[in-house]
Amino acid sequence: WETPDGKPFRQRLLVVANRLPVSAVRRGKESWSLEISAGGLVSALLGVKEFEARWIGWAGVNVPDEAGQRALTKALAEKRCIPVFLDEEIVHQYYNGYCNNILWPLFHYLGLPQEDRLATTRSFQSQFAAYVKANEMFAAVVNQHYQEGDVVWCHDYHLMFLPKCLKEHNSDMKVGWFLHTPFPSSEIHRTLPSRSKLLHAVLAADLVGFHTYDYARHFVSACTRILGLEGTPEGVEDQGRLTRVAAFPIGIDSDRFIRALEFPLVREHIRELKETFADRKVMLGVDRLDMIKGIPQKILAFEKFLEENPTWHDKVVLLQIAVPTRTDVPEYQKLTSQVHEIVGRINGRFGTLTAVPIHHLDRSLDFPALCALYAVTDVALVTSLRDGMNLVSYEFVACQDAKKGFAGAAQSLGAGAILVNPWNITEVATSIGTALNMSAEEREKRHRHNFAHVTTHTAQEWAETFVSELNDTVVEAQQRTKQ
Ligand code: G6P
Repeated sequence: WETPDGKPFRQRLLVVANRLPVSAVRRGKESWSLEISAGGLVSALLGVKEFEARWIGWAGVNVPDEAGQRALTKALAEKRCIPVFLDEEIVHQYYNGYCNNILWPLFHYLGLPQEDRLATTRSFQSQFAAYVKANEMFAAVVNQHYQEGDVVWCHDYHLMFLPKCLKEHNSDMKVGWFLHTPFPSSEIHRTLPSRSKLLHAVLAADLVGFHTYDYARHFVSACTRILGLEGTPEGVEDQGRLTRVAAFPIGIDSDRFIRALEFPLVREHIRELKETFADRKVMLGVDRLDMIKGIPQKILAFEKFLEENPTWHDKVVLLQIAVPTRTDVPEYQKLTSQVHEIVGRINGRFGTLTAVPIHHLDRSLDFPALCALYAVTDVALVTSLRDGMNLVSYEFVACQDAKKGFAGAAQSLGAGAILVNPWNITEVATSIGTALNMSAEEREKRHRHNFAHVTTHTAQEWAETFVSELNDTVVEAQQRTKQ
């Protein structure tokens, strides 16, 4: 495609997600400093040449005054970001409440919090109302910036109402919605008081995407069983209108990680880490401190391994990077205390005067430090209880040389990883032993498989595929209407 003056045409892509890919810190009345946080989605879209992407989302801070909002909007514009300003009460009810206390646990099969189940009453209803209101606020910002021909890509469980809000305003808008968490079995989705409203709202999109085929299938089943609509191989049909539903597994920007290994700073970190852990094997966990990540279960499995394998006591260390998250939600506060208690007990039990078996850090690492850590790791333990798509295993593989192997739970790396049932502590403990004792040839064989997968199923390819399918879906729908 070309523009009238012969330049390659780049379609505008409006990416709408709860969080912008930058964190903002206020430095003065009208001054802000911004830091890019390059998660999976950001690096996916940075590498895509076909589109000109702009981000719309919450800046993660409360900015009650107009001067502050104006200054932040201006600073963000330079990063192609457009803020949605949410006040504290909305954040409390929508983000902490409906998103993270209701939808997140439910979609990961942790059930509704007890008090909300009983009180499907006031707190639940006001949280749902705030959720709808927040989605309308996102829609208002999208409508303000939308130009004809743009593609609007809505992300995640925070914005299930957004497709409906957008299509009601402009039925010609090309709207896609993508879920980064699991979509649960219809029997779980049934237990949500607002189950039908959410499904109808998502179905307003032209294309609905999930990371795995299973999640796409669960969504279609929920629409057929709960709404009584017709499921087809293409998606869901409602009175002749088709919403396409499909699986698009995300990947990472593998080149970014591979290139980083050559940076002098990363090489320096690698040298230091190798020196520090010269006489020990390094096992690594990198997770947000979230109940779905199975951190207590993983640490208990490591304890069991130590219990059963005294010869390994001073020869292996588990480095657990536990990134604090959603710290205002009580469930997350409880989890933090629980993990600290278990780590303290195990270190007390197996530690010596000079070394402890678990290094647990409540913080994130910057990119160079993280790459270096992946590079020196012997065994990565990725044992989420449930996840949309866990990319830690991909990042680890990208940073390994051919001598390494790992234990983890990952669908797409199944043939290269050691698959475990993360709920079964004995099985995980045994697999830790298998990974630590694996022969060099076996490791190399598995690594080759994983590396090929990680470097060919990239985030850029994921984003391009989704957006081109969305364009095609809309064209096909227009053709069907004409016939
Ligand atoms: C998951 C969700 C994302 C979310 C991220 C961090 O990966 O799918 O939408 O941004 O967790 O959580 P937070 O609540 O801090 O944005």
